[in-house]
Amino acid sequence: MSLAVPKDRDAFASGLGAFAATLGSAIGLGNIWKFPYLTGSNGGAAFVLIYLLSIAFVGIPILVAEHTIGRKMRLNAVHAYGTVIPGQKFWAGIGMAGVAAALLIMAFYTDVAGWVFAYVFKSFAAVFTGATLNGKTFEALAGGTWEPLCWQVAVLVLTTSIIAAGVSQGIEKVTKTLMPLLFILLIICDVRALTLPGASQGVAYLFRPDLSKLSATVLLSALGLAFFKLSLGMGTMTTYGSYLPDSTKIVPNATRVALADTAVSLLAGLAIFPAVFAFHGTPAGGPGLLFNTIPLIFSKMPLGGLFTVVFFVLTAIATIGAMVSLIEVPVAWIIEKGHMKRGNAAMFTGVLMFALGIPATLSQNPVMAEVKLFGKNCFDLFDFTSSNILLPVGGLAIAILAGWALSRKAFVTEMNKGYATTPWHGHVVFAIIKYLTPILILVILLSSLGIIKLH
Ligand code: TRP
Repeated sequence: MSLAVPKDRDAFASGLGAFAATLGSAIGLGNIWKFPYLTGSNGGAAFVLIYLLSIAFVGIPILVAEHTIGRKMRLNAVHAYGTVIPGQKFWAGIGMAGVAAALLIMAFYTDVAGWVFAYVFKSFAAVFTGATLNGKTFEALAGGTWEPLCWQVAVLVLTTSIIAAGVSQGIEKVTKTLMPLLFILLIICDVRALTLPGASQGVAYLFRPDLSKLSATVLLSALGLAFFKLSLGMGTMTTYGSYLPDSTKIVPNATRVALADTAVSLLAGLAIFPAVFAFHGTPAGGPGLLFNTIPLIFSKMPLGGLFTVVFFVLTAIATIGAMVSLIEVPVAWIIEKGHMKRGNAAMFTGVLMFALGIPATLSQNPVMAEVKLFGKNCFDLFDFTSSNILLPVGGLAIAILAGWALSRKAFVTEMNKGYATTPWHGHVVFAIIKYLTPILILVILLSSLGIIKLH
């Protein structure tokens, strides 16, 4: 099986390779689009605070557990979980729920990725016509019928071709080289946004928590975002773990990935919210928040039109890296279970994702906006089910497996490989994985079901 990582196992020669590849899956629309959008619709800093705590006490520990199990098993996710404890095949359910989660995530992810690709072209055209993209541009695009669907197909064809051709490695190299550029561009964006009149309100919105805004829904969204952001709870990071060399220090590597990823999200937030307040917009702008705000920020800069084009190009590239890691999970499973060739498996997966993608995309359109289940349209339902249910439940199972079902000695030894003697944090991290992480996930899941009341 080839993932967006080297073909032969043990092939990340350097620590930097392991770090960069993990980050390549983590960084994507989650940072640039979803973090600001969810922060805005969940009331701001209180959500951010819970998100940061979730990354620290759930995200990093689960990332450590997935990397450790992956490296120990050196197999793809479904297989790794199915055979990790002899006679307990049911753990393979983690990988299977992961396949379902990947399909649901791709259904709406490719819709949003399609908007990004469309914005590359629209912003390019705007440079020549002198126009500025505004709220109407986004409404017309997302609320259309054929336009968003065609972009979605284009995105799916591109991603499945990359997977089918087995050139994910090459793509990953491009992504890695260009990510620092995205980082720099975000900083430029931040400087511009933060110097707009009224910007400080946006900073306060992001960092001054109003704890009265906390609710079970806010907690669950923050937890779900932590899983989504670090690509956890469904086997992606287990597979990446299977490529880690024994010399990689799993705990520091996971911590660095989480820090870098969170930094990118916060930089995106520091561009968007100051601008939202400066332009008298609304933070709860929904999925269109990014698309409406970024062109406005750049419109206040010399060469802003060109910067807008570059911004969407880099975002599109980051998106491809994340999608490649998402689509590989079902593809690997279908190749094995369905005895299909890689090309066919990729095509089959792509068609399946599009079938699910059509209702997700059209739910932004008046035609299907009112088709709702549990009060959510298709787009929101797929997002909610995957990020807020499947991934956290998968994460809970992974924590229980790592902390309780596997032998402590075997797990801790694998986790601490790369050290001559067990470092102090080895025991602390294990205790967190065993007790704190599963309790936190369980409490948040149960409180969102109304089974326990937090206050
Ligand atoms: N982490 C990516 C993002 O933030 C999305 C992603 C890629 C993902 N692979 C995943 C989410 C696996 C969950 C599981 O955009």
